[in-house]
Amino acid sequence: MKIGIIGAGRVGSTLARHFVRIGHDVVISNSRGPETLSGLVEEIGGTLRAGTAEQAATFGQVVVVCIPYSRYKDLPKDALKDKVVIDTCNYYAQRDGHDPELDDDRTTSSEKIRAHTNANVVKAFNAIHWENLRDRGRPKGDAGRLAIPISGTDTEAKAVVAGLIRDIGFDPVDAGDIGRGGRTHQPGARLYGAELTAEEANALLRAGAAT
Ligand SMILES: NC(=O)c1ccc[n+]([C@@H]2O[C@H](COP(=O)([O-])OP(=O)(O)OC[C@H]3O[C@@H](n4cnc5c(N)ncnc54)[C@H](OP(=O)(O)O)[C@@H]3O)[C@@H](O)[C@H]2O)c1
Repeated sequence: MKIGIIGAGRVGSTLARHFVRIGHDVVISNSRGPETLSGLVEEIGGTLRAGTAEQAATFGQVVVVCIPYSRYKDLPKDALKDKVVIDTCNYYAQRDGHDPELDDDRTTSSEKIRAHTNANVVKAFNAIHWENLRDRGRPKGDAGRLAIPISGTDTEAKAVVAGLIRDIGFDPVDAGDIGRGGRTHQPGARLYGAELTAEEANALLRAGAAT
């Protein structure tokens, strides 16, 4: 699969490494330009290439957004329209500046990204610390395999994202749609940062105890 990644920090570079390892074609980008990513491209190797955010968005059948939430309006919205976009971003008012709509829980950060891009947004990888994402992938059936909650409105898009999660060694857990479901794994929620198996995460979701 062709995968574009926007944001090449802890989360973006970790996902690039996984996706290249399992055989995908990946273009990664940051805010400073592809030439600043030559070290990362050399280190990961394989199919990885660097581009601009626009090039990564155009290239990807799936595009992963791993930037500070405060920068979401910089996303190349024309190139992202109708694409499957994985939103890994989290809103922290202290870091990102206050957004009254999010502070009052009138909407969610993923819904705002969807409204801006008109993309088919699936929220995933936001609730796992990047070091666990880097180090704790395990084969299917391993007792220590961690859950990664995902939420989104489109079943097919969620299935694609769930497949990527399984292939890099984690168990996707479907939290529901991007609004109510997304709230169960955003900062402050029970599933956020929790190191749970799929069974444990599903039990919380079924009990309605995840928010
Ligand atoms: N750290 C974690 O454990 C973790 C886990 C899950 C989710 N998250 C969330 O995932 C997102 C990324 O976190 P991170 O820890 O990976 O951040 P990070 O290490 O600070 O990396 C952020 C990346 O985004 C790029 N970027 C910033 N503005 C951009 C723009 N306008 N266009 C394109 N690229 C841009 C930066 O590029 P430049 O350096 O060139 O500016 C950098 O490569 C955040 O929303 C965070 O809350 C973090």
